[in-house]
Amino acid sequence: MQLTVLSGAGISAESGVPTFRDVETGLWAKVDPYEISSSEGWQRHPERVWAWYLWRHYMMDAVEPNNGHRAVAAWQDYADVHVVTQNVDNLHERAGSTNVHHLHGSLFEFRCDACESQFEGVLPAMPEPVEEVEPPLCFCGGLIRPNVVWFGEPLPERAWQQSVAAVGNSDLVIVVGTSSIVYPAAGLPEAALANGIPVIEVNPQRTPLSDSATVSLRETAASALPGLLQRLPTLLG
Ligand code: APR
Repeated sequence: MQLTVLSGAGISAESGVPTFRDVETGLWAKVDPYEISSSEGWQRHPERVWAWYLWRHYMMDAVEPNNGHRAVAAWQDYADVHVVTQNVDNLHERAGSTNVHHLHGSLFEFRCDACESQFEGVLPAMPEPVEEVEPPLCFCGGLIRPNVVWFGEPLPERAWQQSVAAVGNSDLVIVVGTSSIVYPAAGLPEAALANGIPVIEVNPQRTPLSDSATVSLRETAASALPGLLQRLPTLLG
């Protein structure tokens, strides 16, 4: 059986990682995340954008995968599992998932904003969150930026093609922890449904997908995912 999991920030919420649209606590509460995670924000004040992503990069050291990530990794013993994630954290990989497609990039990859070459240097330390850190310079003189997808930027072509293929070849798509409002990612479950592939949504809140999903569970990732495969005969009939 081939199974695709489409995950969003909600699957990492129970690991203590704030979802994208939660109000950031502490240092960033007063900063509009759209402002510091956009190419316009990067052009205007790269040192603030760099500080935010560097903080989020280091914050990952303090969190662990939760039972939701671990369940998805365990499903690899029973099915061919593709994980298509909008998350830039590495919790699916740390839980053991080996087939992860990052549609919106990763906090663990950096590149030059001029020549696009991958940054392999040493990251500046960040003992505690600060509001501004000068980004490192590339040999070509460009600024090193996080390899994440900002609003208005295209998705990584290879990750997108792999995700479309994974969904198209799946027997089941499980959508977990996403508000299903950001396209093109939000279009993947719609395409599955249009091709007669069942879609199960796991989200404590309703979303625009809830009415069209084959099944929509008002449950959290860490509580619903561990026993979900055993429930499939009942859920899908
Ligand atoms: N288990 C499952 N779902 C949860 C949980 C949980 N414990 N906690 C919250 N959620 C749900 C929320 O109800 C919400 O629907 O997770 C979803 C998080 O939605 P967003 O914060 O919008 O995150 P996401 O859907 O991943 O955002 C998509 O938008 O902002 C851009 O690039 C950013 O990748 C992000 C994309």
